[in-house]
Amino acid sequence: MSEQIKKPVGITETILRDAHQSLIATRMPTDLMLPIVETMDKVGYHSVECWGGATFDASLRFLKEDPWERLRKLRDGFKNTKLQMLFRGQNILGYRPYADDVVDSFVEKSIANGIDIIRIFDCLNDLRNLQEAVNATNKIKAREGRGHAQIALSYTLGDAYTMDYWVSTAKKIEEMGADSICIKDMAGLLVPYKAAELIKAMKEATKLPIQLHTHYTSGVASMTYLKAVEAGVDVIDCAISPFALGTSQPATEVMVETFKGTPYDTGFDQNLLAEIADYFRPYREKCLETGLLSPKVLGVNIKTLLYQVPGGMLSNMVSQLKEQNAEDKYEDVLREIPNVRKDLGEPPLVTPSSQIVGTQAVFNVLMGERYKMATKETKAVLRGEYGQTIKPMSQEVIDKVIPGEERITCRPADLIENEMDKLESEMKEWKQQDEDVLSYALFPQVAVDFFKYRQAQQEKVDLTQADTKNGAYPV
Ligand code: CO
Repeated sequence: MSEQIKKPVGITETILRDAHQSLIATRMPTDLMLPIVETMDKVGYHSVECWGGATFDASLRFLKEDPWERLRKLRDGFKNTKLQMLFRGQNILGYRPYADDVVDSFVEKSIANGIDIIRIFDCLNDLRNLQEAVNATNKIKAREGRGHAQIALSYTLGDAYTMDYWVSTAKKIEEMGADSICIKDMAGLLVPYKAAELIKAMKEATKLPIQLHTHYTSGVASMTYLKAVEAGVDVIDCAISPFALGTSQPATEVMVETFKGTPYDTGFDQNLLAEIADYFRPYREKCLETGLLSPKVLGVNIKTLLYQVPGGMLSNMVSQLKEQNAEDKYEDVLREIPNVRKDLGEPPLVTPSSQIVGTQAVFNVLMGERYKMATKETKAVLRGEYGQTIKPMSQEVIDKVIPGEERITCRPADLIENEMDKLESEMKEWKQQDEDVLSYALFPQVAVDFFKYRQAQQEKVDLTQADTKNGAYPV
């Protein structure tokens, strides 16, 4: 072993984003993160993932925190570690395609507030939906020397997703000017020997570093990482043990120990990792007590391999069925999901395509007739508004749902007029920083509710500090 060339595997720590998104519905508040940042900064992580669509949404909606403020605080604390975010291509952190000027502005503000690595994915793997975000990142990199555009391919199974597909897509990503590639396995579908085959083929096809992201849901993830690392993967995504496993990532400490003394040795100090784990463990216990962390998401769920459905999508589906008092239809809906997916051109199931397919499957089952009712989003997918799917969509379904309507074949954002000015004029009464326009663009209603809350808080503070004698208020 010692004669082999050293190739330490990089580790992205997900505790501040995906780990708590997967296990506790993204509810970890900033105040809980900050006290451990200094310790985390000493580990030597490839990066710390800390921002994305769900963290942004949950901050505004449930925690009543400004997500931009969180990012700035984390940036202040992480002096040496790169910060990473997840970006939904042309959908940014939202659920619809945006105009290019919004994408540009969001990339610029993300980097300006502290993000180093932007992991960009598209729910259909339509590379055209990723180009603008990559270009925007590269523009800033050329100007300021900061910013890394990583393109993530949503990993999925299906007739169309052959080894040729993954390899040729990797080559195209390199041509697009991305800095690295991520294989993003949302549902834990990538099994160990398949991972070795996939990574080897992709490494031969491209010079770009390759990062692997998976979830422990189906129980194979640590083994998948082992085989992927042996096959040459450069970076793996892990979560510190109190928030690892289940629907989250493999545990950081376990992977570090696995590669100790091999050419892939991370060189991380287990004592530091233990300190971080000790910090988060009481919070895990508290989340278990309050029910925020359900033991249900902690076990091995082999059904994910059978149904190929990401965990978040399943829990959405269950709550939709509950609302309709139709929990007995669970199995029917699970069987309907692959059919809807096929009708819509067999896309990967990842936000927002996972919600679109899942909700339509629920409708198809509850209405007793397929596509008797189609959601607005299903119609948009069929019209091509989300982009091109790898396989053709069902003509029969197109004729039933959007009869005679024109369909789009160009890059969808080419048809969207710049919208920053319009968005700003809609929300200008609330604007306290440029970033507020972007919060509003992504989650209009939720952002306005937050702005109202913020203003009320500020006024309350101002009143208590007011110099009533002179009638003056602090600025
Ligand atoms: Co994930």
